[in-house]
Amino acid sequence: MAGTETSASTLSWALYRLAANPNLVDQIRSEVDALPSDRLSISAYRKELPATLNFVSETLRMYPAIWMSSRTSVSTIMLGSNSFQAGTDFFFSSYQLQHDPRTFESPEIFSPERWSGQLPLSSRPGFTPFSGGGRKCIGDRFAVYEILHVLIAIVRRWEVSLVSPGTAIKPRRLAANLTPERLFLRIDKRP
Ligand code: HEM
Repeated sequence: MAGTETSASTLSWALYRLAANPNLVDQIRSEVDALPSDRLSISAYRKELPATLNFVSETLRMYPAIWMSSRTSVSTIMLGSNSFQAGTDFFFSSYQLQHDPRTFESPEIFSPERWSGQLPLSSRPGFTPFSGGGRKCIGDRFAVYEILHVLIAIVRRWEVSLVSPGTAIKPRRLAANLTPERLFLRIDKRP
């Protein structure tokens, strides 16, 4: 569940977004086609693939694969006028936080540009796709690297399109995972 369904769901959402927004494919392809090598470090990718990394950040924001987590407080917490003693279990939703208009303007619009000028996958307040604290995702950098490599391989060789354009794809909860419901994609060789 930790290392497979999460990356698979995120990639499915990324492919959905590429299929629904051909202009994003052009942007990502122009970066990928200009890559000097396929075996770069993550910091080199940051330099070579800014738009692609913005796209990955926005996918993780809009569709956090782990949509809900819990943490136990280590001190007294005040929420409004309510006091909760140390040792209280709190559940929080990354999906809710990442769709909060107080943190992300027009949160329901998929907009990779909102990450422009920021470090890719920066720890922005309210952006918690990999959670935080002692049980933060141990595979976060691996996951981004893996997602980038799969995207590079796909956009280089394949065209991805929606089988039924215009059909809204809704998120579905699969245990703790947020995955696209009934997403059908068509894969053709890139001309
Ligand atoms: C896009 C991909 C991924 C996302 C969105 C993601 C997200 C998360 C989140 C939110 C947590 C914290 C869960 C909690 O609060 O209890 C977590 C934990 C964890 N993740 Fe990931 N993850 C991803 C990929 C991976 C990969 C590729 C690996 C392994 C190679 C991995 C291994 C783990 C492990 C072992 C934990 C448990 C850490 C602990 O409790 O000490 N994850 N992940």
